[in-house]
Amino acid sequence: MLKSDLASRLRPAFDDDRDADTFLLRLERYGAELVESLEAVYGEQTNELLDSLMEVMLHAFHARPGELRQLDEARLLRPDWLQQPEMIGYVAYADRFAGTLQGVSEKLPYLRGLGVKYLHLMPLLRPRDGENDGGYAVQDYRAVRPDLGTMDDLSALATRLRASGISLVLDLVLNHVAQEHEWAVKARAGDPKYRDYFHIFPDRVAPDAYEQTLPEVFPEFAPGNFTWDEAAGEAGKGGWVWTTFNRYQWDLNWGNPAVLREFLDIILYLANRGVEVFRLDAIAFIWKRLGTDCQNQPEVHHLTRALRACVRIVAPAVAFKAEAIVAPGDLIHYLGTRDHHGKVSDMAYHNSLMVQLWSTLASQNTRLLGEALRAFPPKPTNTTWGLYVRCHDDIGWAISDEDAARAGLSGPAHRHFLSDFYSGEYEGSWARGLVFQFNPDTGDRRISGSAASLAGLEAALEGGDAAQVELAVKRLLLLHTVTLGFGGVPLLYMGDELALLNDYGYQDVPEHAADNRWVHRPRMDWQAAADAQAHPDTPAGQVNAGLRHLIHVRQGTPHLHASIETGVLPSPDARLLLLRREHPLGRMVQVYNFSDQPAELPLNILREQLGDRATERLSGYEYDLTPWTLNVPPYAAWWFTENT
Ligand code: GLC
Repeated sequence: MLKSDLASRLRPAFDDDRDADTFLLRLERYGAELVESLEAVYGEQTNELLDSLMEVMLHAFHARPGELRQLDEARLLRPDWLQQPEMIGYVAYADRFAGTLQGVSEKLPYLRGLGVKYLHLMPLLRPRDGENDGGYAVQDYRAVRPDLGTMDDLSALATRLRASGISLVLDLVLNHVAQEHEWAVKARAGDPKYRDYFHIFPDRVAPDAYEQTLPEVFPEFAPGNFTWDEAAGEAGKGGWVWTTFNRYQWDLNWGNPAVLREFLDIILYLANRGVEVFRLDAIAFIWKRLGTDCQNQPEVHHLTRALRACVRIVAPAVAFKAEAIVAPGDLIHYLGTRDHHGKVSDMAYHNSLMVQLWSTLASQNTRLLGEALRAFPPKPTNTTWGLYVRCHDDIGWAISDEDAARAGLSGPAHRHFLSDFYSGEYEGSWARGLVFQFNPDTGDRRISGSAASLAGLEAALEGGDAAQVELAVKRLLLLHTVTLGFGGVPLLYMGDELALLNDYGYQDVPEHAADNRWVHRPRMDWQAAADAQAHPDTPAGQVNAGLRHLIHVRQGTPHLHASIETGVLPSPDARLLLLRREHPLGRMVQVYNFSDQPAELPLNILREQLGDRATERLSGYEYDLTPWTLNVPPYAAWWFTENT
């Protein structure tokens, strides 16, 4: 397609020759990927669609502000910006963190002080009123939630963040819109153009057929995947609308090319307001296929690749992060395999690591974690992981029966144990979690709870047990050390830097009461933040100081560049996890003790990897590795690098 005829056709669309050169060069670079993916999804409709996408792209390219164009150039010079060890993410609800967007702006010194380079503000585009799934039911993608501010405030915030070297990250909800979104309203008013934006069925025939193989995301408060709507059907009749999540979140029909065009337009609109990373919410679900679970379909990856190609042409500073909470074998496709290698999302959540961390903490045995990591496919070298201890969602025990079997465990029994353990039902458990969405068909019991409450701090403080408090602090820091050391963007979830406990107040808020994920979505406690800094000896102070130190060390450890894979070394003791990274600057070996007991590490293991002496980065000490063994204290975490 990039024959000279296209170039000569497009050139007159530019007043400036250099702009034309820039656009056409990028088109030449990404055009083939774009066309190939469009053809794979839309077949004969491709040419017409391409023309309409080009129109959207040219418009956004011309509208892109000078400052962002400069950012584009800077990013092209540093394509690994998201992979750098300096990258530290922070995830917060704007209102819960600082009231409004203006408030967030005023908290910049706090974020800078933590070393943050990436700020994910949870859904802030205008959602429907009332229940809205924490903002994931968007009514208007071109407006900000009125109580937070305006689109201009968002641009102003993005500019201020950028000036501080912080990238603004926003959610892009592309599987569904609120039933109050203009498209759904028009569909309900009988406009066939907009009815085709959704999956609407006149009777139960198709829904029942799909349901045969569809799982339920919210079995308790939104059973089934279809919702009857009185006006959604043809000619003013009722219809069954596809609603994977809540009844008020209408799934979009990505088989309709108009939906792709709309979303490209939305992405570029927001990119031109300074959004640098889009979190592709629930991306796994956007393509439906009968007889499957309607997740991870090949079209999902073609659609992402096509969108990414367009965005790279107009706004190469912008990156995509896939929110696909799926099995590892499926997850890797979001970063790209084979032809799609590194051409899909730039980043994806490493849900498995998060799950395994909590699992290992409970079992005090690293075998399953080791097996799961060993079986994990390596990611493309130009991509990165989003690494996290906690986020705004529940924890689902995504542990495969195969991994469990290799570690000598029964998958169902271990998952059962974890739910018991983290809901506090297990004898001797330190955790204070809540069961989220019990599914009687599968036996699944997902868990809500803040990191600190799940790690035992809530129970220990309540029991006034100083030794338990100390252990809980160590557990929290251990988990953070793994996520900061794994090679990816550590995503600190607001409040975890202060070890904030569960917030049971959600029960008194009518829109939140039915969804106990709000127990771990507290308001920022600024007094606690000040106290933690002033009193580093309190539990919150220790977690805070510990984290700040970890961040500081990480930012000065080039071995943690995300292009390097983390491998698992055979462990001499099931309580210990040993990880290895092969960086050109020298090898790195990380040692973690996941138990509340000390363990002996035979030093020949480290010697073989690192030689007779090595530097432990977190303490700054140089270790002599020639003795027989080294005592690894409970929950200790060490980052050794080769002395070169
Ligand atoms: C994502 C969000 C979750 C939301 C769902 C539906 O998984 O993280 O909070 O409920 O998408 O949008």
